[in-house]
Amino acid sequence: MIALSRAAGAPVIDRRIYGQFAEHLGRCIYEGVWVGQDSAIPHRNGLRIDVIDALRHIKVPLVRWPGGCFADEYHWLKGVGPERQPMVNTHWGGVVESNEFGTHEYFELLDQLDAEAYINGNVGSGTVAEMQDWIEYMTLDSTAPMAELRKRHGREQPWKLEFFGVGNESWGCGGNMLPLHYANQYRQFQTYVRKYGEHPISKIACGANSDDYEWTEVLMARAAEHMNGLSLHYYTLPTSDWERKGAALDFTDFEWHETLRQARRMDELITRHSRIMDRYDPAKRVALIVDEWGTWYDVEEGTNPGFLYQQSTMRDAAVAAITLNIFHRHADRVRMTNIAQMVNVLQAMILTDGARMLTTPTYHVFDLYTDHQDAEYVDVPVGAFGADVDATASFKDGAYTVSITSTALDREIDVEFELPSTPIEVLRAQVLGGPSATAHNTFDAPSAVAPVELAVAVQGRTVKTTLPPHAVATVRLAVAD
Ligand code: AHR
Repeated sequence: MIALSRAAGAPVIDRRIYGQFAEHLGRCIYEGVWVGQDSAIPHRNGLRIDVIDALRHIKVPLVRWPGGCFADEYHWLKGVGPERQPMVNTHWGGVVESNEFGTHEYFELLDQLDAEAYINGNVGSGTVAEMQDWIEYMTLDSTAPMAELRKRHGREQPWKLEFFGVGNESWGCGGNMLPLHYANQYRQFQTYVRKYGEHPISKIACGANSDDYEWTEVLMARAAEHMNGLSLHYYTLPTSDWERKGAALDFTDFEWHETLRQARRMDELITRHSRIMDRYDPAKRVALIVDEWGTWYDVEEGTNPGFLYQQSTMRDAAVAAITLNIFHRHADRVRMTNIAQMVNVLQAMILTDGARMLTTPTYHVFDLYTDHQDAEYVDVPVGAFGADVDATASFKDGAYTVSITSTALDREIDVEFELPSTPIEVLRAQVLGGPSATAHNTFDAPSAVAPVELAVAVQGRTVKTTLPPHAVATVRLAVAD
């Protein structure tokens, strides 16, 4: 039996680990969140009410925007004011981007979600002056030209900009740079991300592509003193082959296990990047920010290949849970992550079909994990409950939250753990499962996969439950002291 207990000096699981990523890609922004002022779909200031309500329920702490690869071809001035200037979205399907959703609409989205801002700036095809003007437009409270322009566009007060990313994937779609070249670019561009007023902007440098440890080495050696965070991108592909990634819905038992094995690689990546960061920054001032992660499959047949639309099953739920557990284990260094992406793209929380919407199994994992946000980390050693179980725990507001994932496909698993003090109330006991590993929600059956009550037995300090196959569960127990 596993004995769980709080440890002195345990890190807090930053709620920003539960961040989202929303790019101008496919139907993520348009239709996914923004339907515009004239839409028949119920909306508040152009943002669809059903999607906002669902996202508020999982307590989205922040949203990274506008990309992704799109960020390095985005020219923000085209997306403000009454006359928006369209552009071609060259990365994602070559479609015309109307720029109807821009800076003002993004901050309206954050207001409605009660979430923080994480904007990714354009280094690849932008200029230092353009980036500087954007920062002034958003955050300067004065009569300077950019602040005046913002006011003419209807926003008197500056916005609060918590995080600013200086370029995205600068080693690839963001400019194909070599690490030292980007380190220099970063140093130059970030200089003009000024702090106006009281509130400092946390600056995020573009980090490595999965296991590119040289990138982290060079960035930390040459630019660490100018950054608050360094990013990392890693996607889970069932086959690890970008040409033939595998299908989202139609997969074998072998592919289930392979996909979860690929997801677990996140632990090795964070461990090794953190080791490099520790050498330059032993106090862990610079956060490791995994601002793109999740599953990436072959697109759904019949959909635009540039739109990256995919379905989501219990396999994605297991990937989400396993990955969040890894982030918890590294909570001292990993202080923000952004799953890709929020709506209709890759491992989405929500899928829409015109006026219809559904929440995915991944969404339900984020729901089951809300009590871990800003909670004190409680260690659960890897494999503590056996090879087919992955678990995490935390403590907040007088209660322990224990989340347990069964990766077994063909059997139930009994789980037993002990708390340091006697539970006085079961505050939550729910499990997300489904008839098969491929179980998923459709627009005709949007709640086929949803959390149900989980039977839990409490005897003294001991808690027992039984997990069904391919399932993610959360038990939250209030304790006396
Ligand atoms: O999330 C989709 C794309 O994946 C992003 O635009 C890019 O940064 C990454 O390659």
